[in-house]
Amino acid sequence: MPCLSCNDLRVSFRIRKKSAYAVRGVSFSVDDRATLGIVGESGCGKSVTAAAIMRLVPAPPGKIESGAILFEEKDLLTIPEKEMRGVRGRRISMVFQDPMTSLNPVFTCGDQTAEPLILHKGMDKRAAAELSMELFSEVGIAEPKRVFESYPHNLSGGMRQRVMIAMALACSPKLLIADEPTTALDVTVQARLLELLKKLQDAKDMSMILITHNLGIVAGMARHVIVMYAGELVESAPTRTLFEAPRHPYTECLLKTIPSIDKRGERLTVIPGTVPTPFEIPDGCLFHPRCPKAKDVCRKERPALHCVDERGITDNDVNADNDKHHVRCHLYV
Ligand SMILES: Nc1ncnc2c1ncn2[C@@H]1O[C@H](COP(=O)(O)OP(=O)(O)O)[C@@H](O)[C@H]1O
Ligand SMILES: [Mg+2]
Repeated sequence: MPCLSCNDLRVSFRIRKKSAYAVRGVSFSVDDRATLGIVGESGCGKSVTAAAIMRLVPAPPGKIESGAILFEEKDLLTIPEKEMRGVRGRRISMVFQDPMTSLNPVFTCGDQTAEPLILHKGMDKRAAAELSMELFSEVGIAEPKRVFESYPHNLSGGMRQRVMIAMALACSPKLLIADEPTTALDVTVQARLLELLKKLQDAKDMSMILITHNLGIVAGMARHVIVMYAGELVESAPTRTLFEAPRHPYTECLLKTIPSIDKRGERLTVIPGTVPTPFEIPDGCLFHPRCPKAKDVCRKERPALHCVDERGITDNDVNADNDKHHVRCHLYV
């Protein structure tokens, strides 16, 4: 049984009386106690997918058009809002890129960690403070008491992110969604935080969705990876397969842009062009205007998702098996 499975999710945004898809039929599942990586450049629909899981897509302008998200035997897209409130922050928690936007600058970190414990778990102030400091220690904060009494702006970015992780873990969620959790941090702090996330996930039997624009980050972290482009899933595979035998030209491009530690400071390779917004989707394959391997058919026909094996032979039969390798590209038909 997967921890969560998302089937054919479609999310649209309506702007100036025009509506367009930001997520166009995405399916994936997250294995129990494993990490699924979701990668793609900025604007590919990763955060909207995460928001849909939490049912936090701002509506309007957003709308979850269709799909099913199965979690603990419920479809998160159809349960009543009241029931969803029992899932959000408790069974599924989220950590975002920039803790400064989620932490309130006028309260101490301690107040903010303790509050949900008092509210949701009915703890008294003292017990909530004790548990908060315990959580702070667990996320590797060496001086939990000092951090408990600090205001967010008095802490480093890495420390603030640890506070956010502590808050996300407070209710022992089954699934943690980490949306670019280390993007705002420098490379060494990044590495330490990822190590921490991995350790906590193991210790707490959590499943995780790790969202990043940096394919390099999922390498040591995720069991499976899905690659998104312009709201579509373009490739999915076990992590090792994706790195050793990527099939989609977009994935190949992403692999070339991985920043490496020894090349720090050097200009990174970038993929020429930009991700189209939902309102400027091209005909044919959504990636064809930027694709170094585009053929005639790529400009005209939208490719379907196929299963490929080690030899690159495709099979129309797309099934939900996580260990299969899927690709949406005319080169493999
Ligand atoms: N609140 C919103 N209103 C209008 N468009 C939005 C909104 N949120 C996201 N989008 C659009 O949806 C697309 C996907 O965005 P997002 O999921 O944030 O990308 P990613 O997280 O992969 O960088 C983008 O083109 C973005 O402009
Ligand atoms: Mg995002």
